[in-house]
Amino acid sequence: MYETLLVTTEESICTITINRPDKLNAINKTVMSELGQAIDEVYNNPAIKAAIITGSGGKAFVAGADISEFQGLTKEQGTALAQKGHDIFFKIERSPKPIVAAVNGFALGGGCELALACHFIIATDNAKFGQPEVNLGLIPGYGGTQRLVQVAGKGRAMELLMSGRLFSAKEALSYGVAVEVVTPGELLIRVKEVLQTIIDKAPIAISNVITCVNSFDHTQKGYDLEVKLFGDCFATEDMKEGAAAFLEKRKPAFKGQ
Ligand code: COA
Repeated sequence: MYETLLVTTEESICTITINRPDKLNAINKTVMSELGQAIDEVYNNPAIKAAIITGSGGKAFVAGADISEFQGLTKEQGTALAQKGHDIFFKIERSPKPIVAAVNGFALGGGCELALACHFIIATDNAKFGQPEVNLGLIPGYGGTQRLVQVAGKGRAMELLMSGRLFSAKEALSYGVAVEVVTPGELLIRVKEVLQTIIDKAPIAISNVITCVNSFDHTQKGYDLEVKLFGDCFATEDMKEGAAAFLEKRKPAFKGQ
């Protein structure tokens, strides 16, 4: 049914596995649109009470948006790309049923943002997080500038977003990005165990908790600004250089224009 996802439901828990292991599960257009469809299924199927998002292949959760699709995009197309991602990631965040990110490897760029859009994150001890967009002459475009600050606080968000450095699962735990770290073998068992305790409770109460927590100090302004400024990056020479350098496996030479 899906080209880039594996979707299975067992004991009322739907597991959505992003399945492009040869590209470290990078989010291309198909992944994004199929993710939207899978989340619709979580909303609409009464047999599903909770969901897990994870990555296939054992090396990555998701290594970011697919950089090969960035080449040649105009500012308007860059803005549209970010807006589409925002719409789908808001759908995850606003799901009335709990959605947990099971982060099992690289969660970079759009992958880190996807995990942050879930209600909380449980990671493996070998997971690596990061928002490395600045290395490409870009900024996060799927809500990362807004959601990272909510969990990690302003100083840490600034440091991580400006340095683009990767951080370990242990650091993610200490920053509040992940709520629990387990071994790879334990990951799905543990996430299902946690979700089982949640779905045993009153569904309306759980859905109201999600709505209330999402409403805490939550303004649209920052997200709208991120969409605009992500798009603006596509009008720069540095962004073209950053994406080309990644695909050519070399260091970018940024010029500030
Ligand atoms: N977009 C497109 N392709 C990607 C990708 C992405 N975000 N991340 C990884 N890939 C592809 C690589 O191009 C490579 O493809 P190839 O085998 O056809 O050359 C394949 O996935 C494996 O990745 P590779 O870079 O060879 O693995 P590695 O172990 O040497 O490095 C990473 C792993 C995660 C450190 C590295 O892939 C990386 O830096 N990815 C980009 C992260 C990023 O900037 N994300 C933010 C995007 S906005």
